[in-house]
Amino acid sequence: MLTVSLTGRDLLRVGDLAPAEAEALLDLAVELREQPKQPLLAGATLGMYFAKHSTRTRVSFSAGIAQLGGVAIPLTPEELQLSRGESLPDTARALSRYLDVLAVRTHAHAELEAWAEWASIPVINALTADEHPCQALADALTIRDRLGSLDGVLIAWLGDGSNVLVSLAALGELLGYDVVAASPQGYEAPGVTTVRDPREAVDGADVVVTDTWISMGDEHERVQRLIDLEPYRVDSALLAHAAPDAFVMHCLPAHPGEEISADVLYGDRSAVWDEAENRLHVQKALLVSVLT
Ligand code: CP
Ligand code: NVA
Repeated sequence: MLTVSLTGRDLLRVGDLAPAEAEALLDLAVELREQPKQPLLAGATLGMYFAKHSTRTRVSFSAGIAQLGGVAIPLTPEELQLSRGESLPDTARALSRYLDVLAVRTHAHAELEAWAEWASIPVINALTADEHPCQALADALTIRDRLGSLDGVLIAWLGDGSNVLVSLAALGELLGYDVVAASPQGYEAPGVTTVRDPREAVDGADVVVTDTWISMGDEHERVQRLIDLEPYRVDSALLAHAAPDAFVMHCLPAHPGEEISADVLYGDRSAVWDEAENRLHVQKALLVSVLT
């Protein structure tokens, strides 16, 4: 068994990892994918505090800890005393006495940082408005699976400069791939090379990636976002400008007809279901790494 020593560490941002740690997490994920049911975390408890909706993250963390011999405990704000006024620090202190690790999905990144500050157990970012590091690890693994290496790979990102883009680009700094985004003015991700012309971004790209135009928390901007982002849809006309064997990724949930056309999403150049599956494997690698 490969080991990645992240014992006791939090993963709040991709930048919390060193390049060798990120690479080793992907290697461990592959090993766990080959042998999915090993009791490496027998008896471990994973708390899952989710203040936002989730399908993949919630279920892949739950299934993942179960496959490793541990148990997941779902926690929503409404059912905790937190929603009746108990403080976050007191909640984090108490939860730390029952749990071995806590995954948090919430709105403000500062709230995630508060959980990490007050919990004495490792805290994993399961998505905030700023970053989605588990998704980036799964995306990098999906690309490495298909291309054999990440060195020099060119990823084109289309549309909103979302939390997913921020993490994907940050992971590229560690793993040696490049990301160029095409986004309209006002939708740029901080620190990411951005152009306006979608064709310029996909020109020569190995992978074309997009995300919803309306992230959780942006619903009040829906009408304006649909107008502003319309030219950035990933469809077959745009894909014709990418490398002939370029493939498409999307973290899901997708909105066919908005950020991606249905023919591309469900077509033979789509890697989205492998990408979704890889969430399971990278998060298992992460859990093993912070708990052993
Ligand atoms: N990609 C992703 O994080 O999906 P969920 O919102 O369903 O967890
Ligand atoms: N950018 C999206 C990702 C969902 C997995 C959001 O934050 O809602």
